[in-house]
Amino acid sequence: MKIIDIRKKIFQSVTLIVILVLLCVQDVYPQSNEILSPNENVKVKFLMDDGIPYYSVEYSGNIIIGKSKLGFELKDNTNFPNRFSVGNLERNSFDETWNQPWGEVKSIRNNYNQLTVELTPIDKNKCVLKIIFRVYDYGLGFRYEFPEEDEVNSIKIADELTEFNLIENHNAWWIDAYQENRYEYLYNSGYLNEIKIAHTPLTLKTKSGTYLSIHEAALVDFASMTLEVKENNVLKANLVPWSDGVKVVGSLPVKSPWRTIEVADSPGELITSYLILNLNEPNKLKDTEWIKPGKYVGIWWEYHLDKSTWSSGARHGATTSNTKKYIDFASKYGFDGVLVEGWNYGWDGDWIKNGENFSFTKAYEDFDIKEIVKYAAERNVSLIGHNETGGAVLNYEEQLSDAFKLYNSLGIKAVKTGYVNYGRSIKRIDENGKPQFETHHGQFMVRHYQKVVDEAAMNKIMINAHEPIKATGLRRTYPNMLSREGARGQEFNAWSPDGGNPPDHTTILPFTRLLGGPMDFTPGIFDLLFEKEKPNNRVNTTLAKQLALYVVLYSPLQMAADLPGNYEKNLKPFKFIIDVPVDWEDTKVLNASIGDYVTIVRKDRNSDDWYLGSITDENKRTFEIKLDFLEPGKKYKAEIYSDGKDADWENNPYRIDIEEKIVTNKTIIELKLAAGGGQAIRFSLYD
Ligand code: NOJ
Ligand code: CA
Repeated sequence: MKIIDIRKKIFQSVTLIVILVLLCVQDVYPQSNEILSPNENVKVKFLMDDGIPYYSVEYSGNIIIGKSKLGFELKDNTNFPNRFSVGNLERNSFDETWNQPWGEVKSIRNNYNQLTVELTPIDKNKCVLKIIFRVYDYGLGFRYEFPEEDEVNSIKIADELTEFNLIENHNAWWIDAYQENRYEYLYNSGYLNEIKIAHTPLTLKTKSGTYLSIHEAALVDFASMTLEVKENNVLKANLVPWSDGVKVVGSLPVKSPWRTIEVADSPGELITSYLILNLNEPNKLKDTEWIKPGKYVGIWWEYHLDKSTWSSGARHGATTSNTKKYIDFASKYGFDGVLVEGWNYGWDGDWIKNGENFSFTKAYEDFDIKEIVKYAAERNVSLIGHNETGGAVLNYEEQLSDAFKLYNSLGIKAVKTGYVNYGRSIKRIDENGKPQFETHHGQFMVRHYQKVVDEAAMNKIMINAHEPIKATGLRRTYPNMLSREGARGQEFNAWSPDGGNPPDHTTILPFTRLLGGPMDFTPGIFDLLFEKEKPNNRVNTTLAKQLALYVVLYSPLQMAADLPGNYEKNLKPFKFIIDVPVDWEDTKVLNASIGDYVTIVRKDRNSDDWYLGSITDENKRTFEIKLDFLEPGKKYKAEIYSDGKDADWENNPYRIDIEEKIVTNKTIIELKLAAGGGQAIRFSLYD
């Protein structure tokens, strides 16, 4: 053998050994890719193990999400593999500051590092699934994309395999999914392993004091994701199915919503995390001039107190003369809108069973709509339309275009929608002409809610949806999607057989439901006991706490929910509701403990004013608050609305102290909150 041949042989053998070693190493250390947040505090690892994709997450060097599965199972698609290879990988970074047309804060920085992973079948070099990770300093989002393909046009998702391996049995705040009454339940506080299947946002606290919120962003044409608890503190995505069991149907390309994990060192940071908004697409509406946050009153609480009725007859609430009284009141105190429920045909009889009877264009005879909108316009007030569907969405969709055109022609700028019905009760007609029944949270209804927002935008109408799909930040893309319910609101205090919302309910909402987006809670009940109307029900707060809720529970549409007469009798505290804005330049959380208390300050977008809202659960508390958020060197007048001496929600709810003080950003003030109480303050420049 020549020397040259020997060298060649040695070289070949060495190469072979190197390749073998590399292969072995790959087996022990599955192929992994890391992606860091801009400040490197959050680290996401993507890895393949035996052809299956996984991810894990570290925060400040600690693992917060252990190795967790990714992917899907498809129905009737034998081409879709259950083992993959990694194809192209692409890395990007993004840093931009954008302005909200309205919101809890004006400017938001959207700064992330992105990794896109293309997965291919083991034996072919074509991408069948993309996973896109966006890593922020305060969390991450990832979404899937099924790209277009030559052989298949559409897919049916049988199951989403995404997991969130939380490692430990964290504290948790949640509501159960698949319940009759949609999202309208009190929150559970307990441990992760007590959950069966929960709605998102799901809030968690680790033993070391890190707060997590798992949710989704940009829920468009997909099923809503709930979270099922598996063994070993692992949560698995559970998509709300269609009536035939399929989770999602779609024509390729199909994008999932972003699966989101917010991470924070304090509960307040969850409130000021804008991850969900950042993961949504920018505003798609060209002109947003017509979209205006505002405050409203309405023919509403009197129904819930059973003083009048939605249905026609002697006790009908939505009469021309009653509506005019509300318009006068709104105009006198500067409210933008008057909501009128019960104005249209369909309320007589069992309207929940017979939602098909609702007309969205035909007013009851004693409601002269033309006269009313004219009367309102002359007084600089606009009517807020109401479309209760009883869940009969086919009936609603048929009338949607005509109805919204009519409202637009009448100068109606906002519509409150409603979908009161329970469980799997939403009728649709399938491909064979047969009726099927869907839930509020599956893909069928996700499509419906979006259709309403789109149709509304075409007619310059803002939407406030009750019995909605949960908020996932779509207000960024469609800013006419103003507010929504989607939790137990004030109304439960009027009639709930369980005694209404307990004092801690509103100390949980900001850290759970409201992490998705604004809520139309309808605060501001002054007659807390309504002994005349409903002696067995009541509101379980002090009067001052009702005021504080306007700052604590963010909504660009805020209602002064009580009867006008109850405000006229209490003009001093009512001044706070008249003053408080609904559109903010900035928001800061001064202190918080989930389920116990929270203090929030917000700066008005249209003046130099700041507003403070502080609330507590059933325990009284005292806080020392630094006013260092105020502009240095300036004097402010503080109008303070606090629980009076001996006030408490149970036995002395009305006692309120109203006083003025001059303060600067060096002042430290003491907040004294009664049991079930709160405090509200307006700070305005003083010269
Ligand atoms: C439930 C809504 O939450 C409530 O505000 C409304 O009054 C009723 N449905 C009737 O539409
Ligand atoms: Ca409701």
